Amino acid sequence: MAEAQVSSSSKNVIVSGGARGIGRALARYFLEAGHHVYIFDIQEDELEYAATKHLEKYYKDGKVGYAVCNLCDVEDIRKKVEQAAKFFKNKIDVLVNNGGIASPKWKDDKTMEDKETYDQWVAYMETNLTAPFAMSQACIPYMKHRESDSNSSEGAHKDIAGPCIIRKSTGCNVHVP
Ligand SMILES: NC(=O)c1ccc[n+]([C@@H]2O[C@H](COP(=O)([O-])OP(=O)(O)OC[C@H]3O[C@@H](n4cnc5c(N)ncnc54)[C@H](O)[C@@H]3O)[C@@H](O)[C@H]2O)c1
Repeated sequence: MAEAQVSSSSKNVIVSGGARGIGRALARYFLEAGHHVYIFDIQEDELEYAATKHLEKYYKDGKVGYAVCNLCDVEDIRKKVEQAAKFFKNKIDVLVNNGGIASPKWKDDKTMEDKETYDQWVAYMETNLTAPFAMSQACIPYMKHRESDSNSSEGAHKDIAGPCIIRKSTGCNVHVP
């Protein structure tokens, strides 16, 4: 990943599925660039390791927070977004909808013909499609400050972009205003 450029103004970023893989790398990238990050994941041990060990120096500085969250559970999403908003003093700037099921194959070499794959299909849909909608919906109220900031007499003179919601997919470029 390219070297992070340190931003002049710190943003508050939520990364879902950030305990490992692309999400963890993105979380580190944002922190290196001077932003604050809140990580969601379902894997409790990996999540705790990522936040408190892998990102230790940022954790100790209070720049990274985390919560176990099941992206298939809308009530859990709403509760954990509230928790993240509290950590960010009610201002969220960027949501990276990274969490998802990345496996290209059905489990146990099953095929579409096997009835058992239906449950896997539903899990894919809930995690990869419905969860980004639910996450975005839960975050929007905390992103509205960006609109009012840009309308205020101080903000009117600044180059403030709108809130930023990113769905991670192959080849996606991430830009934090
Ligand atoms: N790796 C690739 O080549 C590739 C290609 C295209 C798209 N993607 C997408 O990019 C994202 C990240 O990919 P990756 O390779 O880092 O995958 P990964 O499996 O290493 O990481 C995904 C993370 O999402 C978390 N997660 C899964 N289900 C969850 C749930 N119900 N609730 C909360 N967290 C959950 C996992 O615990 C894991 O930490 C995924 O959405 C994947 O579909 C990846």
